[in-house]
Amino acid sequence: MLLKLDAQRGMPKGRQIVDQIRRLIQRGHLRTGERLPSTRHLAEQLGLHRSTVSTAYQELWALGWLDLRPGAQPRVRQREALMDLEGPPQSPFPWADRLVLPRDIPEAPRPALQPGLISFRDFGMDPRLMPMDPFVRSLRAVLRRQGPQAMHYGDPQGQPGLRSCLAQRLGQHGVQAHPEELLITFGAQQALDLTLRGLARPGDAVLVESPTYQQMLKLLDLHGLRALTLPEGSAGIDFAALESLVRRERPVLLYVMPSFQNPTGRCLDQSQRESLMALCERLSLPILEDGFTEEMKYFGRPMLPLKSMDRTGHVMYAGTFSKVLFPGLRLGWLLAPRPCTEALTAVRRAGELCPPPLLQEALEDFLRKGHFDQHLARLHRRFRRRMEVTHTILRRELDPAFVRWEAPSGGYLLWLELLGFEGVNLEQELQRFGVAVKDGASFFALPPPGRRFLRLSISNLDEAEITEGLARLGRGLRALSKREQG
Ligand SMILES: Cc1ncc(COP(=O)(O)O)c(C=O)c1O
Repeated sequence: MLLKLDAQRGMPKGRQIVDQIRRLIQRGHLRTGERLPSTRHLAEQLGLHRSTVSTAYQELWALGWLDLRPGAQPRVRQREALMDLEGPPQSPFPWADRLVLPRDIPEAPRPALQPGLISFRDFGMDPRLMPMDPFVRSLRAVLRRQGPQAMHYGDPQGQPGLRSCLAQRLGQHGVQAHPEELLITFGAQQALDLTLRGLARPGDAVLVESPTYQQMLKLLDLHGLRALTLPEGSAGIDFAALESLVRRERPVLLYVMPSFQNPTGRCLDQSQRESLMALCERLSLPILEDGFTEEMKYFGRPMLPLKSMDRTGHVMYAGTFSKVLFPGLRLGWLLAPRPCTEALTAVRRAGELCPPPLLQEALEDFLRKGHFDQHLARLHRRFRRRMEVTHTILRRELDPAFVRWEAPSGGYLLWLELLGFEGVNLEQELQRFGVAVKDGASFFALPPPGRRFLRLSISNLDEAEITEGLARLGRGLRALSKREQG
């Protein structure tokens, strides 16, 4: 058998062996039953390592071209004729005509961030604050304790141990939860998705704040739902307008983030929380409360979630470990009355069977051993300082003549309203000053005409980075404003 390997072609040697033997068989130069050299012989002949030839033979076996038996030479195998994969290429399949998704679902490509840029765009956990060592110990402990059981399918509703641990923790937020009412999800995002699947049909309306979480707007699009915006007056929610809107449009759900809202970082005050609960109770409007940063109350007196005031069971409460631990765990939850949890568990079972048991067991171990509380205390100390620095530097760097903002009482987000800057591509322009920000327009179902906003996240930045980043932002805005006026 004559094989010629070409060192110049840049194709791995093993790949060349596979291709050439396949071609010899296809062209009839090697016949069915014919013997091929042993791996040792071919390796010597070609000046290769034996393992390269062996891997190539294994691939030819897997593709059905060779018979391999221990101790015997490989033989060419009788193989059914396959369709001609080598003929002229067909025209590519017209996927664009077949996809039924809305056109604007695919993410717009993110602008590449140049090195040295300070980014207030990212809203992920700061990797420098991730408690890796204790979590790795929890993973090891679970694997040691459970062995292969930890690698099996788990409970479709989520591991019972984690659910009971979570139910206890929710008590610290005034929420009474039973483990049976909890569904462990792939982050809060899946809790939102499942709720929409369970409660809304295409064409239905969902009430959202304005602005609201951008990915919720995407989900609404994906489900063919209409976004209605919560009417607001100068003192917050306009409850009279809300009541008439609900009576007129009959939304199936209200989606709210009462604490450290994304994107504004604002909290609903207690009286608005109570009025909202009372109105929704009276109008029988279910609420989906997103408590994505509930744990980040590090200033002042904490406010309790709407769910803690839920007397009739019309509130579904979504939460997550993404914003205070590891987003990559993809573990969150939905707390809802049992009929909902049961129905949504059935939906999830049909979709992805179950969330990953090993990670849930490790998280439970981590929680029960007190590591999460320790980590949270540390996070609070850090972010108290980071947010204080943010306030100080914002006051120093941003001219109230063209920027307004409110100091948030926790969380990671700040919302700036800019006066002027109409038609300016702020994200791009500010990058030239070494700072990345997120334009606020994408958080509105309908951006308010003539108003400009920026969302800043400090989740990934330490005090020095915040100080330098805000100084750059201030410089950039001053220069852009001068250019506008000039
Ligand atoms: C308001 C809000 N809800 C839900 C999520 C989704 O988080 P998770 O990573 O838990 O899916 C995010 C993520 O940024 C968010 O900002």
